[in-house]
Amino acid sequence: MFFDTPASGFAPLPRLADDAGAIGRPKVRRSGREKVTGTAAYTAERDGRHSPDSFPGLLHAVAVPATIAKGRVTGIDASAAEAMPGVRHVLTPANSPKLKVPEGPPGLGFQSIEPAGPAGVESQEIVHGGQYVAAVIADTFEAARDGALAVKVTYEEEPNPVIAIEAVNGSEERPNSLMGDPPVMEEGDAETAVKEAALSVDLQFKTDTNHHNPIEPHATIAAFGKDANGSETLSVRETTQNLYGTRGSLAEAFGLKPEQVEVVCDFVGGAFGSKGVMWPQALLACKCAKLAGAPVKLVVTRRQMYGGTGHRSPTLHRVALGAKEDGTLTGIVHEGFTTSSIRDDYTDAVVLATKILYAAPARRLSQRMGRLNTQLPTFMRAPAETPGMYPLECAMDELAAAAGMDPIELRLRNEPPKDPMTGKPFSGRHFVQCLKAGADRFGWADRPLQPRKRKKGRWLIGTGVAAATYPAFGFPTEVELTLRANGTVRAVCATHELGTGTATVQAQVAADLLGVSAGRVDFDLGSTAYPKGGVSGGSATTLSVGSALRDAAEKLKAALLKHAPQDSPLSGAKPGDVTFDSGKLVLTESGKGASLEDLLEAAAKAELSAKGSYAPGKSEFSKHSFGATFVEVGVDEEFGLVRVRRMLGCYACGTILNRKLGRSQFLGGMVMGIGSGLLEVTHHDTRLARWTNDNLAEYHVPVNADVPDLDVMWIDDPDFNASPIGAKGIGEIGITGVNAALANAVWHATGKRHRTIPITPEAVM
Ligand code: MOS
Repeated sequence: MFFDTPASGFAPLPRLADDAGAIGRPKVRRSGREKVTGTAAYTAERDGRHSPDSFPGLLHAVAVPATIAKGRVTGIDASAAEAMPGVRHVLTPANSPKLKVPEGPPGLGFQSIEPAGPAGVESQEIVHGGQYVAAVIADTFEAARDGALAVKVTYEEEPNPVIAIEAVNGSEERPNSLMGDPPVMEEGDAETAVKEAALSVDLQFKTDTNHHNPIEPHATIAAFGKDANGSETLSVRETTQNLYGTRGSLAEAFGLKPEQVEVVCDFVGGAFGSKGVMWPQALLACKCAKLAGAPVKLVVTRRQMYGGTGHRSPTLHRVALGAKEDGTLTGIVHEGFTTSSIRDDYTDAVVLATKILYAAPARRLSQRMGRLNTQLPTFMRAPAETPGMYPLECAMDELAAAAGMDPIELRLRNEPPKDPMTGKPFSGRHFVQCLKAGADRFGWADRPLQPRKRKKGRWLIGTGVAAATYPAFGFPTEVELTLRANGTVRAVCATHELGTGTATVQAQVAADLLGVSAGRVDFDLGSTAYPKGGVSGGSATTLSVGSALRDAAEKLKAALLKHAPQDSPLSGAKPGDVTFDSGKLVLTESGKGASLEDLLEAAAKAELSAKGSYAPGKSEFSKHSFGATFVEVGVDEEFGLVRVRRMLGCYACGTILNRKLGRSQFLGGMVMGIGSGLLEVTHHDTRLARWTNDNLAEYHVPVNADVPDLDVMWIDDPDFNASPIGAKGIGEIGITGVNAALANAVWHATGKRHRTIPITPEAVM
């Protein structure tokens, strides 16, 4: 069941008369058929057998991961591996092509098998288990795998690698956001405000390590070649959310110009942030290709993904809230602590949402980070908000209980009229509407304030609520939009298809912009041959690509007008005077104009293209999406079971461009929240220097039995303050409220607070 709101459309643009426009329509995802029939070629399948790609003489590489977490390599004996049938080369630091690693702190993804000290095997420093120390290149995958198992690596192990967040020695101040907000953001004296408040809570929380488990493991096919001038080229098939970023990193590493590097990725088999930066396997594959003088394919194993392609950092928090008797907040303190690896920098800015959710005269938000002997953490669905909103929204629930108030009422009482940190107006907020509309639909009204009041058989029943929010990010993006003489349209952008339906949705956007039906629009993505797309992260793709399309559509008007025949009503018109409508370009006032085909014919062109771009720039608005998450759980205390019985998400994310695919994004986030709240945790064995549950059998993600019918609704809220197409991101907000809503519901069922997630059976019993 979902709330079928009407399509928003582009407010300032007319819609097609015959089908009321494409925007909002629940169009089926274009690549759906290819995916379910197995014909969609994912990176590892782009080896010539499954795709038009061709890599004659393709070899296969398998990486050898370190089996210690701290120390150095003292020797690599490759002789047994080299003698095995089919093995061509064993790549070690001794024969590895040297990379140009950027100066300063190593960039994301530059952890590699480069020795850290003076060149040579002896100096190869190991800073985490699973760090690649060698790779075997062979004729077949099987031969490479067998060879990799036969490589003997000896180590000098240093004692006491730091693996647990609680064991971190020392810490560093970290910026409070990717935008570089200062490590401490302070207004008034929040500590004193909390201390002197009539009501207060002062609480510690922990979120544990999570690993992304997209169905498609990370994979690279790398081939060096020569261009017409004899200069070196590098062609890569890479599973990535960041085509241009990967191209830039590879060009830098191998001393090439970006134009000499091509990165292609038609489909991404799930990513959740793990494919947002380039990881060492891509460098390794390219090094192997260079060493072997042949194209090389390298696919990481599921197990290697736990040591090689990022994870969600564990986090610690202190949240202290002070309030008057009536629940009005007087002070908010949120201290966040996250981790990074030894050599690289990464921070989840976990106090981000605390900046904007509630008003309070005194606030202190701070962010610190420590370093672990684990692989580099990275973005994982709503990197700041998923671990960061759980403590805040649980603390709000505890404060409501202390005040004897309904937790929704407490939130309504602390609604800020503008962004509390910057003083800017919100581009669109609707948080109150989400809470109220969600509560109505969920049936919140008769909820007892006290816990342990409802029981069904052996199940204690409880409900919980929490806010959801996510920033409306955008990234610099360029597109090219082409009108063809046959009346069809083609748009291209080096953006990504992560299973979200980018091509489908952007074809809808282009259709309404140009006044044609969506079926006439081709949208191609997935290659650096196309204009620059941003990273498909931060829920930013739809907004960024669509806004660039809008710019391109305006430029197309100008291009068409330039060619308008003198006897046409369009002759001499300015782009601002005309509108695309029903396959024509017409004067907005009179409706007179010419068909696109006629205009192209007059221009004597088979097609006409325009480039468009979008860059977010400074805004006078604070741009975020908001929502409310409601959960009902059943808890069996004897078995420690928590079952989600119902969940409702109500969101305000601007224009929803495709109701079907939009709903799927919200659902995906909510399901992933069930994972992080109840199931997902990675356990580390320090002796073995590896994550022990590094597989899908033991790293639990929600399956159908864990997921009841979920209910999604949204507030129809085109937000043109947030972006030129009125849309804000929807890919991540769905997860942001779930952890707290779950924990609050479990408390409501049992009377027991859970300040660590996931809430595992042993904690419930
Ligand atoms: Mo998202 S974690 O920014 O891919």
